[in-house]
Amino acid sequence: METAVMHFVYYLLISICWCSGNMGQAIELPNYTPILSRSDFQIRLYNESTWVSARVSGTSFDQSYKIGFQRLYQYIHGANSNSSKIAFTAPALTSVPSSSSPSGNAYIVRIFISTRFHGKPPLPNPELKLRIEKWKSQCIAVRKFGGYANDDDINKEIEALLTTLNNQSITIQDTDSYIIANYNASSHNTTQRLNEVWINVSGIGTQC
Ligand SMILES: *[C@@H]1O[C@H](CO)[C@@H](O)[C@H](O)[C@H]1NC(C)=O
Ligand SMILES: *[C@@H]1O[C@H](CO)[C@@H](O)[C@H](O)[C@H]1NC(C)=O
Ligand SMILES: *[C@@H]1O[C@H](CO)[C@@H](O)[C@H](O)[C@H]1NC(C)=O
Ligand SMILES: *[C@@H]1O[C@H](CO)[C@@H](O)[C@H](O)[C@H]1NC(C)=O
Ligand SMILES: *[C@@H]1O[C@H](CO)[C@@H](O)[C@H](O)[C@H]1NC(C)=O
Ligand SMILES: *[C@@H]1O[C@H](CO)[C@@H](O)[C@H](O)[C@H]1NC(C)=O
Repeated sequence: METAVMHFVYYLLISICWCSGNMGQAIELPNYTPILSRSDFQIRLYNESTWVSARVSGTSFDQSYKIGFQRLYQYIHGANSNSSKIAFTAPALTSVPSSSSPSGNAYIVRIFISTRFHGKPPLPNPELKLRIEKWKSQCIAVRKFGGYANDDDINKEIEALLTTLNNQSITIQDTDSYIIANYNASSHNTTQRLNEVWINVSGIGTQC
């Protein structure tokens, strides 16, 4: 029950964030350079970035995302070494274990940390069991999809991107897990909701 209330409050806050975003105070997204753009996919070169991650040993994307997000929510709302509020960013990433991955592989939910922390955000309170992760610069293949990302849709979208990448002979770096990026709070209705599948790739042009 408490969790449900937290989610409600969270989504309310995010709605407020998004409204102020529309009034010119944009939400920070990780920085990237577009490498390739096609109707059904893009290749982006992401700059190095910092994320805070929550590991969840669940069996469903929907559930794991909610559970992981709740821990991350507490972190950005003061459960950290500086007891400070941390600006909301997008997207939230969820690593989804692939069907071929070794069993016991968990879901990992991550939120992007603003570059204003220069890679050193406040530390999460230990009971939240969160990790600060540094990502090197990385080429990522991206497929966009709308609506509410859920267990029924994501596998179809992941398969579609894998098929495209195989067709284009693009090298996939890791087949144990794939990432779903969520950009909108669940209070946002389906019109213009944005989600993406992210797959690490290499071997494209000189930069990737
Ligand atoms: C990439 O990140 C570094 C430091 O994290 C920054 O100095 C540089 O300006 C960034 N590059 C781009 C293209 O955003
Ligand atoms: C710590 O909190 C203070 C006051 O809320 C804030 O000004 C400062 O930027 C915070 N420092 C970090 C590293 O988050
Ligand atoms: C993708 O690349 C980043 C940066 O190198 C790495 O930290 C991350 O674990 C990779 N993710 C997957 C799913 O391979
Ligand atoms: C890639 O897709 C195109 C268009 O759908 C198709 O004509 C082509 O045969 C495919 N190539 C491979 C290697 O699957
Ligand atoms: C979705 O949002 C738009 C704009 O805020 C609104 O006009 C529309 O009625 C909403 N649709 C539903 C199904 O809630
Ligand atoms: C969802 O997020 C994307 C990316 O920031 C934004 O362009 C879009 O307007 C958002 N959709 C809604 C319904 O708020």
